[in-house]
Amino acid sequence: MIQRFSFGQMIPTESVVCSLPVSESPVPYLIQDGTGWRYEMAEDDIVYGLGEMVRGINKRGWHYCANNSDEPHHTEDKRSLYGAHNFFVVSGFGGRPSFGVFIDFAGQVEYDIGYTEHDVFTFRTAEPDYDLYLITGDGAADICHQFRGIIGRSYIPPKWAVGLSQSRWGYKSEEDIRAVAKGYRDNDLPLDMICMDIDYMADFADFTVNTKAFPDLAGLSGDMKQQGIHLIPIIDAGIRADEQDETCQEGLEKGYFCKKEDGTPFVAAVWPGEAYFADFLRPEVRDWFGKRYKVLTDLGIDGFWNDMNEPSLFYTPDRLRSAVERAAELGAKGNLDMYDFFALQQIFSSLSSNEDDYKTFYHQINGQTVRHDRVHNLYGGSMTRAAGETLQTLRPGTRTLLYSRSSYIGSHRYGGIWLGDNDSSWAQLRENIHQMPSVQLCGYLYTGADLGGFGADTTPDLVLRWLEFGIFTPLMRNHSAMGTRDQEYYRFDKQLPAIRNILNLRMALIPYLYSEFMKAVLEDGFYFRPLAFDYPDDAMARQVEDQLLLGEGLMVAPVCTQNAAGRYVYLPESMKMLRMRSVDDFDEEILPAGHHYLPCALGEVLIFLRPGHLLPLVRPARCVAELDESHFNFLSYSADGNPCTYRMYHDDGLTTDYLRPEHWQTLTEAAKV
Ligand code: NOJ
Repeated sequence: MIQRFSFGQMIPTESVVCSLPVSESPVPYLIQDGTGWRYEMAEDDIVYGLGEMVRGINKRGWHYCANNSDEPHHTEDKRSLYGAHNFFVVSGFGGRPSFGVFIDFAGQVEYDIGYTEHDVFTFRTAEPDYDLYLITGDGAADICHQFRGIIGRSYIPPKWAVGLSQSRWGYKSEEDIRAVAKGYRDNDLPLDMICMDIDYMADFADFTVNTKAFPDLAGLSGDMKQQGIHLIPIIDAGIRADEQDETCQEGLEKGYFCKKEDGTPFVAAVWPGEAYFADFLRPEVRDWFGKRYKVLTDLGIDGFWNDMNEPSLFYTPDRLRSAVERAAELGAKGNLDMYDFFALQQIFSSLSSNEDDYKTFYHQINGQTVRHDRVHNLYGGSMTRAAGETLQTLRPGTRTLLYSRSSYIGSHRYGGIWLGDNDSSWAQLRENIHQMPSVQLCGYLYTGADLGGFGADTTPDLVLRWLEFGIFTPLMRNHSAMGTRDQEYYRFDKQLPAIRNILNLRMALIPYLYSEFMKAVLEDGFYFRPLAFDYPDDAMARQVEDQLLLGEGLMVAPVCTQNAAGRYVYLPESMKMLRMRSVDDFDEEILPAGHHYLPCALGEVLIFLRPGHLLPLVRPARCVAELDESHFNFLSYSADGNPCTYRMYHDDGLTTDYLRPEHWQTLTEAAKV
């Protein structure tokens, strides 16, 4: 059951796609606490959700703030990352209540989940105008399923987007892109996409191409497609302030940029220096901005990633000026004491994405002028919406790949998300495992982290271990920052055979992974989920934070500790373990329920088949379009001797014609070839 409670006059977010009547009864479970709400947690209660926030699948024990931020250090002390995912589930145990809460609000939401007082959960919105949805049902899985029903169908990418994507901030020319494609193809590694970071643009201006470095982008894109590779350029939120630039010119003429109180356009610097920011909260601006993508779709581009859309601001000219003046004053003093020196550091470290700058510009929403900070969390997702909505009209009936860094619940209908600037550390691999089910239960199914890590230098063992998990994430992208060690998979000579085997395993799994992805989208179900979603009465399963259920038949348990030769795994019931070195080379063992220490060498992947389940595999290919899905090999675990079956979804992967009954078929082991 879903109850909607309404407080004050909320600014519409369009997160929810149906209109539920407002309930007049008291809000169950929650107690009003000043301007917020309070819930007394039992020791065994788990709090799931809050999307990409740090610190585990169970969010208890920390305080968070939904405040979309360009935060490149995803350490445990952080309170906000890029997305506002204001949905959580309190999951009670042993007769204690379970319920879900969605706070439909465009500004900041503070959560204290046992941070101040161990057993007390409080949350409050920055303003008293919001809708609160309270969902009850048959446990956490049912509650999340109901929630997904009110926020609308998740975005569906083209099927090729579940192939591998190679990215790096630093591919500067056509030659660089061709070298990456060659590196993959010469080394017989599968690849479906190469991302183009900001260097493909002319002077970092959106919807332009640096024609010196990329003299014929259409030709390059065509050549890449011949090799089964799609080019995926980045689009940034800040529009280069340059009156010679078409996007800038049009935006100024039409008055489409966010304005300051005095009516002049708000300016802040990002990659191109000073930039303007489109008012994505206006439908006509979304339509205009979305149509700008045509500059690139006309060149054969069929996928994009939207970045820096919190929006991230390097500095505003006024703040920079006063920082420089203050620094000059301090500099003139010379011999700075501790306090002056720290003050100097602080002046510059607070230049970027300063909260006060978000209070200096305005949006137009349904004829009302609204200060940015009040709707800050809608900005990035509205950019995704601008692109998503319009690409559907630019390329009717055809899917376009789109994912974003910033998001709010609602923008999951228009694009996926990647999990931003992680780093090459074991902690971030574990974080990736925690974030996946948490964002997916908020509707973001097409999701993944930068495999191998974005910031800092990676290591060959981390690359391999991260792949053990990465081959299961719908968005599978290797991306790294400028200045870090080369990270393309073909760079790791000694590990190359193992890497090739694991990448090929991903390709072999794609029919299953895509089918489970589509089921999750079309049926408001789950791709990744915590063990306790399916084993709610198992107290031990509720504790597990580093194993995930994947679709109907699998559990995954990657090794995520440096130098480990295996790991402990908890099985809530008997499962068949597959220790896979490649598609054709693996050990199988039926394991009873309980705890096991399982060796898993570098280059091996542990997959667990649940009883009664069938896993279809195909022969790997160099890209998704070349997979032959007319023949399957099956792996199965029939605990009771009956043949296993699999309900499989399969479509053309390119059109938006998702709902045909012939997309479904039942595979049985008898059909084994
Ligand atoms: C920040 C993004 O998070 C990162 O992925 C990208 O490489 C840089 N911006 C440069 O565009």
